[in-house]
Amino acid sequence: MPIIAISNQKGGVGKTTTTVNLAAALGMLGKKVLLVDMDPQGNATTGLGIAKDALSVAVTQVLLGQVTANQAIVRSPTAPVDVLPSNGDLVSADVALMALPERENQLKKALASLIKPYHWVVIDCPPSLNLLTLNALTAADGVLVPVQCEYYALEGLAALLGTIDSVRQTVNPSLSIAGLLRTMYDRRNKLANDVSNELLVHFGPQVLASVIPRNVRLAEAPSFGQSIFEFDSSSTGAAAYLALAQELLRRRF
Ligand SMILES: Nc1ncnc2c1ncn2[C@@H]1O[C@H](COP(=O)(O)OP(=O)(O)OP(=O)(O)O)[C@@H](O)[C@H]1O
Ligand SMILES: [Mg+2]
Repeated sequence: MPIIAISNQKGGVGKTTTTVNLAAALGMLGKKVLLVDMDPQGNATTGLGIAKDALSVAVTQVLLGQVTANQAIVRSPTAPVDVLPSNGDLVSADVALMALPERENQLKKALASLIKPYHWVVIDCPPSLNLLTLNALTAADGVLVPVQCEYYALEGLAALLGTIDSVRQTVNPSLSIAGLLRTMYDRRNKLANDVSNELLVHFGPQVLASVIPRNVRLAEAPSFGQSIFEFDSSSTGAAAYLALAQELLRRRF
């Protein structure tokens, strides 16, 4: 059961869009998929058609050891994906976690107690390197890093790669980089091409071959609570996320 964290502390680079649509693509390919929403914003939860304000328990209670993951998991009404959902309570969980002795290990423990067998677990991380992200990186086998090909993209990467290294040296020696994913890519834009080339020079084979184009359908789908495959399966965004899922299945990182 590969566990993959989608992380970049930079905001708005396509983490949630990638988590939702990668999970949906893997589900469509016949894999049993669990999406874990570790972001208090809960965008992955609502993006898969789940009303976060109506939830009686969510990932917060799981992290604090009050319920098991099995008790909090819900099925997306739209995509073939199970979801360990998030709601606003997760903001306070970050602080409450501080008081626990194994504070970075709570998600890993929760996933170890899953009853239903999953082929893949994908985790949406918040845009910061906080205790919630640390829980995701501790539980994960690999990190997928969405990178928006624009001017400051490379700056934040160094901080993230430093964090991944320190997680490896302390709590999770087997953590690997599942790949850097170019998102919101516009081939006609010179800057995007320059940054993409720079990524390839610095990170070589760690840069995934799949590229996610800028596609307005990807931005529209969440307000309907749908992945791109229910919303517009003939879009360039759908084709790109299907190709990404197939690439990850081939690479197994
Ligand atoms: N390939 C794309 N084409 C067009 N719009 C996109 C694409 N990917 C993401 N978007 C839009 O860009 C915005 C940011 O994307 P998203 O929410 O996935 O980023 P994020 O990294 O999860 O953000 P945050 O850091 O706030 O969690 C959203 O409005 C989303 O719909
Ligand atoms: Mg997000």
